[in-house]
Amino acid sequence: MSNALSQSEQKKLVGSTAIDRLIEEGLIKSNMKIGLGTGSTAMPAVHRLAERIADGTLSGIRAVATSYQTTLACEELGIPVYSLSSREIGGQLDLAIDGADEITPENNLIKGGGAAHLKEKLVEYSAAQLVIIADESKEVATLGTKFPLPVEVIAEGRVPVIAALEKLGAHCTIREGVKKAGPVITDNGNLIVDCVWDKPVDPVKLEDEIDRITGVVENGFFTKNHPLVFIAHADGTVTSRA
Ligand code: A5P
Repeated sequence: MSNALSQSEQKKLVGSTAIDRLIEEGLIKSNMKIGLGTGSTAMPAVHRLAERIADGTLSGIRAVATSYQTTLACEELGIPVYSLSSREIGGQLDLAIDGADEITPENNLIKGGGAAHLKEKLVEYSAAQLVIIADESKEVATLGTKFPLPVEVIAEGRVPVIAALEKLGAHCTIREGVKKAGPVITDNGNLIVDCVWDKPVDPVKLEDEIDRITGVVENGFFTKNHPLVFIAHADGTVTSRA
């Protein structure tokens, strides 16, 4: 029988290992303002952070959540949670930690598989240090052809926005809900258009170009805050790279 860790075991491992290593290395300390991501890799990190608050290692942590999923988790786990623009946070964070859908060797990312990339980008581009945690399946050579790029769009503008995205070479699909008839509605009340290209694209250029389309709220390329990346492997090791 193989001892290889499953993808979900790798997600749990990388979430808790990253929190412990960041504390050991002094990158997470008491009284810090921390952004907390969304999804099945971010959740184990949120749980580990709560444990390290409960065991007295950390005190005075102020968190900003990137979605309803994360807000609810913080409330349940007793992590004090504030809005990014609250007086307690002042629009600036010491560190943010989150998962990703795809990561290149240059540490450029696609995020938004959980439709949370607008608040994730707001929070993570406001952090002095971004930390990305992922299982090894998220590592890719290039972006654009495999995992669809999520683009959050004002519902009223969907037809002209899709036409503009198609001019950039994208094949577009409005994301459908699961256990909900019709399209996904984001935490911010918008639609998600998922985009795939025939050939790899330049995420640095397209991140700006897509956001210039009127009616686009935000896209899921993350190239502007260079992250520290932790990757869990099937053999049970966790590697990191900056
Ligand atoms: C949420 O919208 C995303 O950006 C997540 O961070 C990303 O989809 C990774 O999700 P998992 O950790 O669930 O794979």
